[in-house]
Amino acid sequence: MFVKTDFADKTRWATWIKDLANAGGTGGLNWHVHAARSLQRWLPTREHIASFLANIHPEQKHLLLIGCSAGWMLPTPWLSRFERIDVYDIDPLVPFLFGLRHGRSLQTQSVQLHYHRSDAIAGLPVLLKQHPEACVWFDNVLGQVGVRLGDEEIAERQLSQLKHLLAGRAWGSLHDMYSGGTDADMASPAVECCHWVRMDDAAEESSKVQVNQQTFLHPEAAQWLLTRLNAKGVWHDHATRTVFAPGTQTTLIPWAFKPHYWHWLQAGWVKP
Ligand SMILES: C[S@@+](CC[C@H](N)C(=O)[O-])C[C@H]1O[C@@H](n2cnc3c(N)ncnc32)[C@H](O)[C@@H]1O
Repeated sequence: MFVKTDFADKTRWATWIKDLANAGGTGGLNWHVHAARSLQRWLPTREHIASFLANIHPEQKHLLLIGCSAGWMLPTPWLSRFERIDVYDIDPLVPFLFGLRHGRSLQTQSVQLHYHRSDAIAGLPVLLKQHPEACVWFDNVLGQVGVRLGDEEIAERQLSQLKHLLAGRAWGSLHDMYSGGTDADMASPAVECCHWVRMDDAAEESSKVQVNQQTFLHPEAAQWLLTRLNAKGVWHDHATRTVFAPGTQTTLIPWAFKPHYWHWLQAGWVKP
């Protein structure tokens, strides 16, 4: 009995330290250092996210905020529209750093903050039961599911099921769609957002997508996105193509993650 407890404690500590360092490759100390040093380069993307969220007016006063890290890219004014926010992240630094970045301002506006260190994707069915009235925002976390699982096919299957779990809920997500290198010999692209609507549930090769109201096959549309960023080398597909149901209006936002390494983010909001 004593030995078992000791082993369980060690395992818990090892997970805590791993999540502190890099959260299974999705966050942690690595992420915070990179984010803090990149805030200026990320400014156009942060502004696009703020404009997207400024147009989202949920009726709910309670938000489940999932995978938000320190909220490096989140606008405090949007958060302040809620009376209560439950923050879920596996990274043990989140309560301190999110508190530094948003806490004081939210406190002065009487927003109650509750922090939970837990895997909110595996635990989503339970969270939804515990908080039947809350809306949900996945804050750049769903594109990392494949990284944590180490298997993009399983990730795509899991991610495509989320919308069914969330049926009847107001929810939204910002997540990676594609990421990769860009041509260092060309000037950094100044790229605008675009509107993106998946038209059907067909397989990727034959699926149709509307981009800025023009219809393409999905592979052509993806190629068009990459060309706009002067993509070079092999790009990573984050397996998030089917997070939103066909017909959901979404915005694609370019993100200079590193000077010659860009992402296309997808943002969408679903009303019940
Ligand atoms: C790319 S970072 C998010 C960045 C965040 N949007 C920001 O503005 O700083 C992904 C975050 O998701 C967290 N995360 C990854 N998997 C998670 C899970 N299953 N449940 C809860 N949080 C998770 C990581 O710890 C990390 O903080």
